[in-house]
Amino acid sequence: MPGKENILIGRTEINTRVREIARAIDEDYRGKEILFVGVLKGAVVFLADLIRYIQTPSEIDFIAVSSYGASTKSSGVVRIIKDLDRSIEGREVIIVEDIIDTGLTLKFIADNFRQRRPLSIKIVAFLDKPARRLIDIEADYRGFVIPDHFVVGYGLDYNEKYRHLPDIYFI
Ligand code: IMP
Ligand code: MG
Repeated sequence: MPGKENILIGRTEINTRVREIARAIDEDYRGKEILFVGVLKGAVVFLADLIRYIQTPSEIDFIAVSSYGASTKSSGVVRIIKDLDRSIEGREVIIVEDIIDTGLTLKFIADNFRQRRPLSIKIVAFLDKPARRLIDIEADYRGFVIPDHFVVGYGLDYNEKYRHLPDIYFI
């Protein structure tokens, strides 16, 4: 387990930022209805926290993707493991991600969703590591910009471990 000295972002700071993001989304979507799509599994904790501060009428769905080949992803070849339960045609979609790293995963998902004719697509990412970006893609809302360190906690894993930790740690 990573120790307290390895905390990069603590739970109090996380909570404040999540509430700020929810407020910004509510302002932008006034009078509309949102479909939040969480990218499994990393976005689960952030999505669960975020939607509880959202006052706009909302629904949630999930998608799970996996990159082909080695676990160190860089190919950009992504495969859908679990697709959305329902159509997003005509919906205001917000994709919820834990972190944008190379950007390949989100690019694939956003391109795939665009073909399904939603009214709009936006991206909310809890973390952003711009130093590692391979593709020109930006979040519309983001929690924290972090340096090029591998982090865990608050949904993010190392080999499926540490997702349950309430703070963000670097390891
Ligand atoms: P991308 O396609 O490179 O942007 O990959 C994003 C995905 O890589 C995220 O959804 C995470 O699952 C994973 N990832 C990237 N950086 C980290 C990290 O620092 N900790 C844990 N997972 C990460
Ligand atoms: Mg992930």
